[in-house]
Amino acid sequence: MDTIDTLDTDRTISTFVDFYRERGHRPLTGDSLLPPPGDPVLFTTSGMHPLTPYLVGRPHPLGTRLVNLQRCLRTTDLDEVGDRTHLTVFQMLGSWSLGDYGGPQSLRWGYELLRDGFGIHPDRLHVTVFGGDGQVGPDTDSQRTWEELGVPVELTVEDNWWSNGPTGPCGPDSEIFVWTGDGPPRSTPTTDPRWVEVWNHVMMRYHRRTDGGLDPLRPGVDTGMGLERLVTVLQGKRSVYECDVFEPWMRTVPQLWGLDDGPSLRLVCDHLRSGTVVVGDGVLPSSNGRGYVLRRLLRRVLTTLWREDPSRTLSDLPVELLDHTRHQFRQPGPQPGRPDPLREVLLDEEQRFRSLLDRGRSVLTRQGLTGPTLTQQQYHYLHETHGLPRDLIDSLLPPTPGSAPN
Ligand code: SER
Repeated sequence: MDTIDTLDTDRTISTFVDFYRERGHRPLTGDSLLPPPGDPVLFTTSGMHPLTPYLVGRPHPLGTRLVNLQRCLRTTDLDEVGDRTHLTVFQMLGSWSLGDYGGPQSLRWGYELLRDGFGIHPDRLHVTVFGGDGQVGPDTDSQRTWEELGVPVELTVEDNWWSNGPTGPCGPDSEIFVWTGDGPPRSTPTTDPRWVEVWNHVMMRYHRRTDGGLDPLRPGVDTGMGLERLVTVLQGKRSVYECDVFEPWMRTVPQLWGLDDGPSLRLVCDHLRSGTVVVGDGVLPSSNGRGYVLRRLLRRVLTTLWREDPSRTLSDLPVELLDHTRHQFRQPGPQPGRPDPLREVLLDEEQRFRSLLDRGRSVLTRQGLTGPTLTQQQYHYLHETHGLPRDLIDSLLPPTPGSAPN
């Protein structure tokens, strides 16, 4: 059996997928960041996202037991990036029962996989379970299951109710936490951040109506586990940036651009890695929609790099880093003997941004707009008359004390 020391990212993925395959789950093939046609959301935000129609009753062509590794992008976390845990693009391991087995079976398998597959000592586990509210009673099935397995349970209300919005499929969930502190585990998940949540099992039993009422849904189970966070815990690291997830980025980028370990280095590595994956799924920089998210990621990188040294350029980025990320996300590299389209996108965007900054700088100087803050009217004027978007203007102004980089 693997021990914690030998589980790199690839082994972690295969351990998860094989475990569920051996229990009758079929692996899904699609894992693009782009949601299925007709979905109004720009990017896939969780493992269950593409499965929503099947969780509410449509038969899935692969059957009632599924397993997958889904890449996800969350722009809501963009301002958190640069800390030690948040990533823009990440991967979620997931398992699903579409009207097949129930919550207790899912929890038992989850426990078995964490203990025997990933080598986590059961003493390092703690779970939370839905304690009931005015509408739905406590999740006694889950509570009983964990008690039989000998895992300590904490009951909560809001933290253990999962939904993807004000209406749609929802239900009580049970979150599994792993102790990451020094010394023996103590306290509980809601009172001590050293308990790190790794896995969420949702008992998808209800459908919320627009009036807030709940209709029963064919019972299913949806589980999701952030791959990078799991790997961090399994490899005993404090930060995802210390894991093989970011090797060779964290080895190469500091020397390349003289960046010290800190929020700027992490932002540069996260956004370039994320941009690589977004381009790999067929998105090009543009002024709206998905392309704008990509443009914003790349411009944040360039703004960060140029703050100290405007001669830094993405053309120095070794292809080894891009290949490493493409391999992790199962995306093809360039055709042999052909230029790398990803590098062309990066360099084109850099060139475009440099020209825009030059033009913007001269407009601001001519107009005497030196900040650090501008009025809404001034932003409006610069946008309407000179085509300068707000984030670009902000990157030219001196930072306001305590503000995060754009
Ligand atoms: N739906 C749950 C989540 O996104 C589990 O997949 O966390």
